[in-house]
Amino acid sequence: MSKQFEKIKELVAMRAKARLGGGEKAIEKQHERGKYTARERIDMLLDKGSFEEFDMFVTHRCTNFGQEKKQYLGDGVVAGCGTIEGRLVYIFAQDFTVTGGSLSETMAQKICKVMDMAMKVGAPVIGINDSGGARIQEGINALAGYAEIFERNILASGVVPQISGIFGPCAGGAVYSPALTDFTIMTEGTSYMFLTGPKVVKTVLGEVVTQEELGGAGVHASKSGVTHFTAETEEEGLALIRKLFGYIPQNNRESVPEVPCTDPINRKSDLLNEIIPDNPNQAYDMYEVIGEIVDNGEFLEVHRDYAQNIIVGFARMNGKSVGIVANQPCRYAGVLDCNASRKGARFVRFCDAFNIPLVTLVDVPGFLPGTAQEYNAVILHGAKLLYAYGEATVPKVTVTLRKSYGGSHIVMACKQLRADINYAWPSAEIAVMGAAGAAEVLYAKEAKEAADPKAFIAEKEAEYNELFANPYQAAKYGYIDDVIEPRNTRFRVIRALAQLDGKRQGLPQKKHGNIPL
Ligand code: HXC
Repeated sequence: MSKQFEKIKELVAMRAKARLGGGEKAIEKQHERGKYTARERIDMLLDKGSFEEFDMFVTHRCTNFGQEKKQYLGDGVVAGCGTIEGRLVYIFAQDFTVTGGSLSETMAQKICKVMDMAMKVGAPVIGINDSGGARIQEGINALAGYAEIFERNILASGVVPQISGIFGPCAGGAVYSPALTDFTIMTEGTSYMFLTGPKVVKTVLGEVVTQEELGGAGVHASKSGVTHFTAETEEEGLALIRKLFGYIPQNNRESVPEVPCTDPINRKSDLLNEIIPDNPNQAYDMYEVIGEIVDNGEFLEVHRDYAQNIIVGFARMNGKSVGIVANQPCRYAGVLDCNASRKGARFVRFCDAFNIPLVTLVDVPGFLPGTAQEYNAVILHGAKLLYAYGEATVPKVTVTLRKSYGGSHIVMACKQLRADINYAWPSAEIAVMGAAGAAEVLYAKEAKEAADPKAFIAEKEAEYNELFANPYQAAKYGYIDDVIEPRNTRFRVIRALAQLDGKRQGLPQKKHGNIPL
């Protein structure tokens, strides 16, 4: 056997060893936990055979606590690049089979390397988290490693899309990397995220709580909004990442991906001509409206279980990605509150950062009143949505379906927030406030003196409705560009977006704005 051949054999053996991560027993244990290994996840996520691994032979340098004797090729993270539907993506997946995926200094360097590469070439980064946190034996060097990653997350924000899969533990300060990325996907039952675990919670607060209750997928999807998506299985989670990837461009200089459109752009929807109930207090389902106007009724909802009074997500119109933001009359009448405002604002900013046009569907009665909202700073949260829309320079098309009152009218991409095209259905009611409230304020004194105060207020309410509960007052001043037949909405929005394809709009020179955080 030639020397060269021997060396090649050695390489093959080393590769095989590296591919085993923490070893066969540890892999078995990982499977027993109902989880896949880092390499299995990467194989499922990327196009077949497209993965190129970097730093397979990296090992840690720690000598504390006899660590020098515990060496694994690749050291706890699998990193490299590959493609999804032929498009380049950089990826790292923490390998729980190697010391619980805990983060060492060298692991951090591997992660930073792929993030730097992604920034250099303008490609998204996907991180799969499954880790016990900082490698305790490495002390401050592990912490420094986290900080290096966070800094890169921050610099990459708004330049290349960043997606985090949480497929196992992600606790302590480690949660901040996913929190800094654009989208987080958690698996149900096998993943959790929290700053301090149940034991510390019990010691400090006396509160008894399970990992699932404290930071499971369900909690973060519905209560905190920390995760944008949940998946029942890892397979489903990885498929979701692929799907999401299909809607977003490679970086902030690229336009949105385009697919052939098989749905006629002038498809009319008679359902939309009948969807608004006669009774203004009766709800209808905004999902039906979205389904009718987007290509093939396909909608990838973001934050499905969080602040359901507003709907956000991706769809395609004439084959091109759009971001949909819509009030949901079925949930608290579509009112805006703290959580809905934050949810909407974050989505609008993502779309704006990555050149994804915004289609806003409005049916909003106002902001939710009361101490709970005010004490939780609804003023600031509402201002976030206002700021996000006002700052966004992507094409913005707004359709007002029904209610659009007061402050919430302004916030939901009105004309003066530099929305480009504003349509309204004939059922739109664009006014400073609802008729009942307006009549109470305007005629409080007269009502008291009236023979039948209730009938008097009802009469004034009807008068107000006659005057303001329509789109024509706004159209009269050009705040609405056209009043459209609901069944033509798909075609009108697509045509508006085509018109806006070449839109270029800037912002005043500044270091950055000061969004009301
Ligand atoms: C070193 C770790 C580790 C860690 C796990 N391991 N976490 N080694 N540093 N942080 C090792 C275990 O010793 C074990 O090694 C192997 O990984 C698998 O762990 P198990 O405990 O057997 O697995 P499991 O029962 O599934 O429990 C998983 C776990 C638990 C819940 C994650 O390991 C755990 O509680 N780990 C500590 C979590 C933690 O407190 N992290 C905070 C660190 S400080 P062997 O050799 O037996 O296979 C921090 C600050 C970050 O993260 C700040 C960033 C800004």
